[in-house]
Amino acid sequence: MLYSKRELNSLLCLDDFERAARGYLPRSLFAYVSGGVETNASLAQNRAVFQEFGFVPRVMRDVSSVNTEIDLWGDTYKMPFGIAPMGLSALTAYDGDCALARAACNAGIPMIMSGSSLTRMEEVSGIGPNVWFQAYLPGTLEQIEALVERVQRAGFQKLVITVDTPVAANRENNIRAGFSTPLRPSVGLALDGILHPRWTLGTFLRTLLAKGMPHFENNYATRGAPILSRHVLRDLSDRSHLNWDYFRRIRELWHGRLIVKGVLSAADARYAVDAGADAIIVSNHGGRQLDGSLAPLRVLPSIVAACPGVPVMMDSGVRRGTDVVKALALGAHCVFVGRPFAYAAAVGGEGGVARAIDLLGVELRRNLAMLGITRIDGLDDACVQAITPGSGWVSR
Ligand code: GLV
Repeated sequence: MLYSKRELNSLLCLDDFERAARGYLPRSLFAYVSGGVETNASLAQNRAVFQEFGFVPRVMRDVSSVNTEIDLWGDTYKMPFGIAPMGLSALTAYDGDCALARAACNAGIPMIMSGSSLTRMEEVSGIGPNVWFQAYLPGTLEQIEALVERVQRAGFQKLVITVDTPVAANRENNIRAGFSTPLRPSVGLALDGILHPRWTLGTFLRTLLAKGMPHFENNYATRGAPILSRHVLRDLSDRSHLNWDYFRRIRELWHGRLIVKGVLSAADARYAVDAGADAIIVSNHGGRQLDGSLAPLRVLPSIVAACPGVPVMMDSGVRRGTDVVKALALGAHCVFVGRPFAYAAAVGGEGGVARAIDLLGVELRRNLAMLGITRIDGLDDACVQAITPGSGWVSR
């Protein structure tokens, strides 16, 4: 049911995985993954902003050997990009969380497991130390403490706290496409499944047979709602009252590295670091939360300047090796890529994710060589130049 090796080899860049998944996944599920929020302004900006920077390549510099490794707190990662946390990965792909984690560990890059996932975190943590855990904070201190304790017991060493979801986003596209959590059985949903038999048989029915009905497993210390139900309401506890005091409590409890994800303001980044964050992920949640929030690349340099000595990472909109290079040149320690890896897992399982990682890695190495750079720490803002808006830059 998955893409064959030949089919995977016909995919030549990360965007090709999106085109493949558009035909493979049910319309409702593809809409959930691909969509942004309201007018999709941030979603579009996340891509467009990369065109505002051009390269200044240096030549004749012996680039016969290019090293893409980075160091993070004494760990070496083979490439300066990782897999961003994505909810419902085990619904979009068979055993999706594990497929993403295995491919990342084999390639030596980080993978962040989403807290909005359908696989027990304990099953994924053992795949390797490159797997980090991302939590959405529950609403009460008691629930937060229990969740942090569970993540710690599961053996994760890096905990990512997402802070850009004080209230639920306005995902109109989900409603229009018939997507909800839990999914509500309906004629439309059944038809969507029938029209996408590779996913229905190879992912959904296979999951039901092998593992039973998936449930939200990791939003709390205890099991949550099933993914398909006519009546059950998913318990999305109100987090609108959360503030940095809750974060300081997590800092007291959590012994590993603590990373704050979803920051776009230099003042907030500084606040997070002063409250005990070991690193920041600059992100607008892939354009899925506040529509019109700035593209992370635009604010990245100011956040790097506000947090000297602290690793600042970035996600949202990265699709090409050139995007990775631009973000790193502007100060990112590494970047995370989301949707393309969800599509890769959907159509190709672990092998699909491995293919996508490889494609991005090959692009990155080629781009570094053409820039005259042989090591990641050779990238700095001299490698890129901002392009005057309206200068006629075209992209495909
Ligand atoms: C989950 O994080 C989502 O953005 O849907």
